[in-house]
Amino acid sequence: MSLLRPYEMLVKCIILLVTNYFLYTHGLDKNPSILIIGAGPSGIAAASRLWKNKFTNLKILEGENRIGGRVHSVKFGDAYIDLGGEWCHGEKGNIVFDMVKQYDILKHSSASMHVYYSNGILLDEEIYNDLAEFAESMYESLNNTEVEEKCSNFSSVGECFDNQFNTTFAKLYQNNYNLQTILAEAKSWLEGYVLAFDSAFTLYDIARNSAYEECEGDLGLNWNGRGYKTILEVMLQQYPDPTQELAVVNNILLNKEVTRIIWNNSANQVLCLDNTTYPADHVIFTASLGVLKATLESLFEPALPDEKVRAIRNIGFGAIMKIILHFPHTWWDTAQPYAFIWSAADRKKILTEFGKGPVRNGRSWLTENTYFIPADNNPKVLMGFFAGEMVPEIEQESNEVLSAGCMYMFRKFLGKTHNNITDPDDIIKSMWYSNPHFRGTYSYDSAKNTEQGLQNKLAAPLLRKNGDPAIQFAGEATHPYHFSTVHGAIESGYREADRLIHYYAQH
Ligand SMILES: Cc1cc2nc3c(=O)[nH]c(=O)nc-3n(C[C@H](O)[C@H](O)[C@H](O)COP(=O)(O)OP(=O)(O)OC[C@H]3O[C@@H](n4cnc5c(N)ncnc54)[C@H](O)[C@@H]3O)c2cc1C
Ligand SMILES: *[C@@H]1O[C@H](CO)[C@@H](O)[C@H](O)[C@H]1NC(C)=O
Ligand SMILES: *[C@@H]1O[C@H](CO)[C@@H](O)[C@H](O)[C@H]1NC(C)=O
Ligand SMILES: *[C@@H]1O[C@H](CO)[C@@H](O)[C@H](O)[C@H]1NC(C)=O
Ligand SMILES: *[C@@H]1O[C@H](CO)[C@@H](O)[C@H](O)[C@H]1NC(C)=O
Ligand SMILES: *[C@@H]1O[C@H](CO)[C@@H](O)[C@H](O)[C@H]1NC(C)=O
Ligand SMILES: *[C@@H]1O[C@H](CO)[C@@H](O)[C@H](O)[C@H]1NC(C)=O
Repeated sequence: MSLLRPYEMLVKCIILLVTNYFLYTHGLDKNPSILIIGAGPSGIAAASRLWKNKFTNLKILEGENRIGGRVHSVKFGDAYIDLGGEWCHGEKGNIVFDMVKQYDILKHSSASMHVYYSNGILLDEEIYNDLAEFAESMYESLNNTEVEEKCSNFSSVGECFDNQFNTTFAKLYQNNYNLQTILAEAKSWLEGYVLAFDSAFTLYDIARNSAYEECEGDLGLNWNGRGYKTILEVMLQQYPDPTQELAVVNNILLNKEVTRIIWNNSANQVLCLDNTTYPADHVIFTASLGVLKATLESLFEPALPDEKVRAIRNIGFGAIMKIILHFPHTWWDTAQPYAFIWSAADRKKILTEFGKGPVRNGRSWLTENTYFIPADNNPKVLMGFFAGEMVPEIEQESNEVLSAGCMYMFRKFLGKTHNNITDPDDIIKSMWYSNPHFRGTYSYDSAKNTEQGLQNKLAAPLLRKNGDPAIQFAGEATHPYHFSTVHGAIESGYREADRLIHYYAQH
């Protein structure tokens, strides 16, 4: 045993005094134990705000072997690419934008889509603009009075789409027979384009009158090769000055999958897959809506109230997928995204020319591609996006088949206009649907739901008899109008941290 020397005793005394002073000035009669489940953007937001408000008896239990959740930036090629959240959607009223605007990291994405037909010809830019405009008019909030009249009786984007597609384009291109044919063939591509907005598996499940609200400004701000992980670094104060890092990072426990949350009028107990248990006064649960849908019956004891179960079941949750390719040299135009529209004849030929990989109802997985986008500040990398009901199967396919399929597509669509198309030397794919810690990508308002304010019902905390919040809910799906985004997730994390901070300020 070593005896404390005098100066060490003095230091200890000062620490004790300072700690008590903090507790006193912050009105805390105790430092409650708080468990945050999930170290995604919402969990990190809640943890950092609580920590900065002196709630230090805090742990984050994270099921994966990394932090970030659906923000997953990976070094690939010359820079970071994002397997999950990628763009900051908007500037006004966007908490992500506000947190980083002083650092000048976010860049505008100005390029417009180049749409190729499967005979190798680049289509007129106007066609893409018309298709995109039509896609947006399917949603009630983006008011197009003409479509609105025709679709007023439809609750889903799919019904409106079917009803309006022929008539709208028949009108736009009625004097151009060739184009009419191509546009009829573009229907299938456009469906995937719309599915990707909401990461749904079918257009018939997407509500026309979604509660989602866009932030004004550029909807496609990119991180210039730094990755969306930057926002985690900002919240944890690792960026811009690493010496300012919040010590809460030491309280993040990885590979801690929570399997059961037991609560009563006095305490909570959280059990993990590795048989460890954690007591807590408060739990903030942030795992995805997909995780809740799959595990709600086994996860909570007592069972969740009916209203919350309804919210979990009736908010939509699907998946998109990214296939990201690295090439030995750049053979494409790094300033533009590419979209591919199959002619009816070429679509049929795929199964004989490239029969590998998932096929459903005679359709190859290749037709589920919505676009390929050059990675930002990463000139040898192309990122492919896939949407639709085949995504779960495509995730399971081997890298060899995925890469060969993309090359078949590139050579067919771009072979006539691009020199030197070469095979990739590396590939990485996302697997959000297959991963039990996510089970999909982001939430959307479902056409089947008729109830208002489901997100608020999902967000409502489970209270003890004395009014204490026992279990709180954060995460993108709990945000009333910014769901599906990183900024929505972060706002929801702050909301739940503030709930506790205010509660303890009053008690
Ligand atoms: C492919 C894709 C593209 C996207 N594109 C964009 C975009 O461009 N812009 C945008 O704003 N948003 C985008 N998003 C959405 C955005 O990434 C999410 O809304 C946001 O990251 C959600 O954060 P969260 O904290 O709510 O949940 P998550 O990030 O999912 O965090 C929850 C955490 O809980 C953990 N967890 C789950 N179950 C357990 C358990 N049982 N025990 C312990 N831990 C558990 C998970 O591992 C995860 O780390 C995209 C998402 C995906 C997947
Ligand atoms: C919605 O429609 C009204 C009336 O046609 C119009 O004045 C308004 O600008 C539109 N709003 C948007 C966001 O397009
Ligand atoms: C919508 O439904 C009502 C009631 O069934 C019907 O009278 C009306 O004509 C429908 N509107 C459209 C545009 O189909
Ligand atoms: C739309 O047009 C295509 C091609 O002309 C045709 O095959 C299809 O039956 C039409 N659909 C509807 C709903 O009218
Ligand atoms: C409440 O839960 C805690 C933790 O699981 C447990 O120790 C305690 O006995 C429970 N109290 C009651 C009254 O059930
Ligand atoms: C957890 O406990 C169960 C039941 O006692 C046991 O079967 C399992 O192997 C344990 N798991 C770990 C990781 O220790
Ligand atoms: C094709 O690639 C080779 C090496 O990979 C390069 O030297 C050549 O300049 C390229 N040609 C064109 C037209 O880009």
